Amino acid sequence: MEQIERARDLARLVLAESVPRRWAHSQGVGRKAESVAHLLGDDASALVSAAWLHDVGYAPDLVATGMHQLDGARYLRDVAGADALVCRLVANHSCAHIEGRNRGLSEVLASEFPPVEGLATDAITYADMTTTPDGEPVEVERRLAEILSRYGDGDLVAESIREASPLIINSVRVIEAALAER
Ligand SMILES: [Fe+2]
Repeated sequence: MEQIERARDLARLVLAESVPRRWAHSQGVGRKAESVAHLLGDDASALVSAAWLHDVGYAPDLVATGMHQLDGARYLRDVAGADALVCRLVANHSCAHIEGRNRGLSEVLASEFPPVEGLATDAITYADMTTTPDGEPVEVERRLAEILSRYGDGDLVAESIREASPLIINSVRVIEAALAER
């Protein structure tokens, strides 16, 4: 629990003033992750911590490469001293490998923050992609459509999300199925 409280406090510190809408979103994603954390066993605390922190890379002071997943994970690793699993989940959330490839950062991403096998990656993507920018629950299809319209055709983030959509939807279905089994 201590790890989660520290993560929540850090996310608030980094996001609340500089990018308040990202903070509102992050609170919803953190809560959503808490609602599925029981599926994760030993990784539950890392999942919830990563959910609270997944968008810290949008804070203007942290922007370096412009890829928020990577910038956020590097901040968590190098400045905040976060747990390696938390950093890897943040770096790879919501199919970041596709955006990384489109930015020419595939090797950097994979070598610094190897993807996490198993349910934790699906779970953080589920939490992010079923939560609106304001932190409210939403269907994944509406979430994806909102991202595409917000960034606009041709934008690198939008095109990456478009390409990732089948994988993102699959992650959501995997978690929904795991919840239904419980
Ligand atoms: Fe997010």
